[in-house]
Amino acid sequence: MSLLLGIDIGTSGSKAVLIAPDGGVRAEATTEYPIAVPRPGWAEQEPEDWWQATVASIRQVLAHAGGDSIAGIGLTGQMHGLVLLDEAGKVLRPCIMWNDQRTAAQCAEIEQKVGRARLIELAGKPALTGFTAGKILWVRENEPAVYGRARHVLLPKDYVRYRLTGEFAMDVADGSGTLLMDVGNRVWSDELLGLLDIPCEWLPPLHESHEVVAEVSAAAASATGLRAGTPVVAGAGDQAAQSIGTGIAHEGIVSVTIGTSGVVFAATSKYAFDPTGGLHAYCHAVPDTWHLMGVTLSAGGSLRWFRDALCEPEKAEAARTGRDVYDIITELASTAPAGSDGLLFLPYLTGERTPHADPDARGVFFGLSLRHGKAHMARAVIEGVTFSLRECLDLLCGLGQSCIRVRVSGGGSRSAFWRQVMADVFGVEIVEVNVTQGAAYGAALLAGVGTGVFSNAEQACERTVRETCSTKPGPNAGAYADTYERYRALYPALAPEFKRAGQTGS
Ligand code: XUL
Repeated sequence: MSLLLGIDIGTSGSKAVLIAPDGGVRAEATTEYPIAVPRPGWAEQEPEDWWQATVASIRQVLAHAGGDSIAGIGLTGQMHGLVLLDEAGKVLRPCIMWNDQRTAAQCAEIEQKVGRARLIELAGKPALTGFTAGKILWVRENEPAVYGRARHVLLPKDYVRYRLTGEFAMDVADGSGTLLMDVGNRVWSDELLGLLDIPCEWLPPLHESHEVVAEVSAAAASATGLRAGTPVVAGAGDQAAQSIGTGIAHEGIVSVTIGTSGVVFAATSKYAFDPTGGLHAYCHAVPDTWHLMGVTLSAGGSLRWFRDALCEPEKAEAARTGRDVYDIITELASTAPAGSDGLLFLPYLTGERTPHADPDARGVFFGLSLRHGKAHMARAVIEGVTFSLRECLDLLCGLGQSCIRVRVSGGGSRSAFWRQVMADVFGVEIVEVNVTQGAAYGAALLAGVGTGVFSNAEQACERTVRETCSTKPGPNAGAYADTYERYRALYPALAPEFKRAGQTGS
């Protein structure tokens, strides 16, 4: 039997998933690496760490391959990160990651040079700190010696591809997150590159996600245990790959993924962009298909912060009993009433992308009183993240997408309690799927499309991804209408204070 290997260069680790052509998971392994925060709001990683972690994860899953060979490899990963290489392919500085907020000035410069409306029309999105183009400008302005030696711009998974195959390549889905593409036409934009004065020869060739673009090199084969010559497809950014792993190959199903960030995602059969810039348009990992996306930057990340800042006793209980600490926290949250007795949480711990696009926004507990305890706070965190995702969904519905059912995935969706909160707050049916390996699984399916195991992404999804359990809105749904309106009123009231605090660096 021939197996498919998916590799996800995630924010906290490199995950490898080995699947059989019927979709069964043979093995999965994750190897973690650190994030450096050299200054508040910055986030960097060492590309060498990705490679070492990827080698370790590949070796672990290959140990379960038995006598079976690997038909193809698909890559996915955290999007938007800037990797700069010199002429010899050497990394020039640590990667500036997707959640780094240092480029506010460069974003203003990009919108001024290109014009905000034209930028949204071409690139599918306004200039936000997460996206890659502002990071290139930041290096030019702040590290001219590094910029002077730069010859190649890559995204995180494409650096790993370079180490695996020696080839420079990128897919259109991940490329859409650079702010340098003409997303409607699925090509690099000469207009944007010209206006921003970024050499087009620094960018790798663009491919559709399923296309075979390279082969495992002899050097990488000896490092990883893979066979030299194994085909590697272009792959996709983590959100597009995740959606393939959730069965979303074409228009018609909306998905919500709760990982560190929370993502609301809908595939579109035509290039459609949101002229307000609230939602962002990308090429999908399927030819002639695009997607719209809204991102809550700290979704699962908010609950992780709550766990680390306030849940030492719950962590100790988890260590003692072997239970998952998040199960203990969500159980605690479920003891507070819907609406958390008036306590609200704004999940802007690392700024916000959709709908407010504000790097200065910060997390808030609002309405604390003597009657509130930790259970209320835990519930308010989960409700606040869900309200933020509802704002993204509202924008999608406003652009004509049908949002009557939502497919959920990611760590947050594993909690039955959180799924019920989503069904109640969104007011729609929430459906889970059988696949839980996310983007890495989607990347393996793309490898299957490129190597002929499946005839296209739609068939790959049909053969492997099935809906499992469903959660319908319950009696609490009505109670959330008012709480959601109170939540929505808070950001506009606080925005000037966020800005002021941002200017003073607090
Ligand atoms: C998507 C985004 C994140 C990162 C990290 O636009 O910024 O989902 O890809 O996962």
